[in-house]
Amino acid sequence: MDKIYVHGRIPLRGQLTLQGSKNAALPILAATLLTEETCVIHNCPKIVDVHQMLHLLGRLGCEIRWENDGVRITGRTCEGESMLYPEVGQMRCSILFLGALLGSSKRVELPYPGGCVIGKRPVDIHIDALSKMNVDISCKDDTLIAQTKGMIGERIFLPFPSVGATENLMLAAVKALGKTQIEGAAREPEVVALGQFLKAMGARIRGLGSSTIEIEGGMPLHGAEFVVPADRIVAGTYMLACMSTGGNILLNEAPIEDMGSFFHVIREMGGSLQIEQQQVYLQAPKEISPVLYLKTEVHPGFPTDLQSPLLSTLCLAKGESCIQENIFEQRFHVVPWLTQMGAKIELLTPNLARVIGVEMLKGAQVKASELRGGAALVVAALGAKGETVIEGKKFIDRGYANICKDLRDLGARIYSV
Ligand code: UD1
Repeated sequence: MDKIYVHGRIPLRGQLTLQGSKNAALPILAATLLTEETCVIHNCPKIVDVHQMLHLLGRLGCEIRWENDGVRITGRTCEGESMLYPEVGQMRCSILFLGALLGSSKRVELPYPGGCVIGKRPVDIHIDALSKMNVDISCKDDTLIAQTKGMIGERIFLPFPSVGATENLMLAAVKALGKTQIEGAAREPEVVALGQFLKAMGARIRGLGSSTIEIEGGMPLHGAEFVVPADRIVAGTYMLACMSTGGNILLNEAPIEDMGSFFHVIREMGGSLQIEQQQVYLQAPKEISPVLYLKTEVHPGFPTDLQSPLLSTLCLAKGESCIQENIFEQRFHVVPWLTQMGAKIELLTPNLARVIGVEMLKGAQVKASELRGGAALVVAALGAKGETVIEGKKFIDRGYANICKDLRDLGARIYSV
């Protein structure tokens, strides 16, 4: 089941309700470790990364039960934690176990989180920030060892508004003694969702969605229910697929407040949008206009996770576009595969791509090597003439609960075998 077959150039039409957000769900699942009581996480996406995270919670002694649209997690007690399982190191978000466990464990051991093909993905900001909270962190033979006699709240300035580091600090600060102030915090909606969940558990947090987050530590935390917001990256991927195929789609329960910069780009490409309450209707243009210059940025700028799918759609624009990747160092891995499908893309620097629109992309045998690059290949294949076979579905399954079925519901011819 690792291949996806796509027969392209069928305009997407119809409506869809979006899955829950991967990037919101993962830190929220880590946060369930902060209480021994039961938490119920509704709209939790059934994606590979979530299953892996739940598997790790299970290894830590949590009881996990899926029910209807959500998952019920009942906590555990712990003293010291060694999480030296190979699967921990493979998950980038496993670094969040530091923040989530140090409140109840005096010592936490983790394999150093591995990088992935989009770049080195260091964790120095996480380590420097946690070290300021009376945590001693060392790295020996690719193992991170964190020890504390009790975390203490601090005023911490982040040199870059890292999403993961902000989340890690929030998880730690709710259990620390006294007040923590995070300056230069990430403002991404997923950080806000984590903060809302922590508040539902009893934490005292101010400033969510701004660059300064204040947390009053030491409040007793209890079980809570939470609904994971819809996934803005999945929404964007399907809208770009609609643009590439010249269709019209309606997305229900879309996180429209968080998609402003993306909607701006869709309009620049000639897409017509109708936005009402939590629904967005997109009518693709007859001809896609190029995007003269776009750079990926921290929120509320254009999200790096939609850069690769956008690249695929811009291959079909009438004219030349320029895209600059500002967040990760190697996020143009998909370019050789798009070129194989007939795209004309020139990498002016490793992080700056010039896309010269072509009349047509054509089906080919291609291979995904990471999540969003894989989604970009699906978008390209839907807009290409003939059949495309995409290998590496497992990467796409990390973040899309049911990409083939969702797109089939919108009229696409797409199957996995
Ligand atoms: C990033 C994205 C996030 C996306 C997620 C999943 C941004 C700002 N972050 O979050 O929107 O949902 O990927 O794809 O767009 N960095 C360091 N040292 C650190 C931490 C990060 O140098 O300790 C660097 C990274 O290498 C990267 C940049 O900071 O170049 C962004 O990192 P960060 O926001 O932490 O990444 P994620 O939390 O993975």
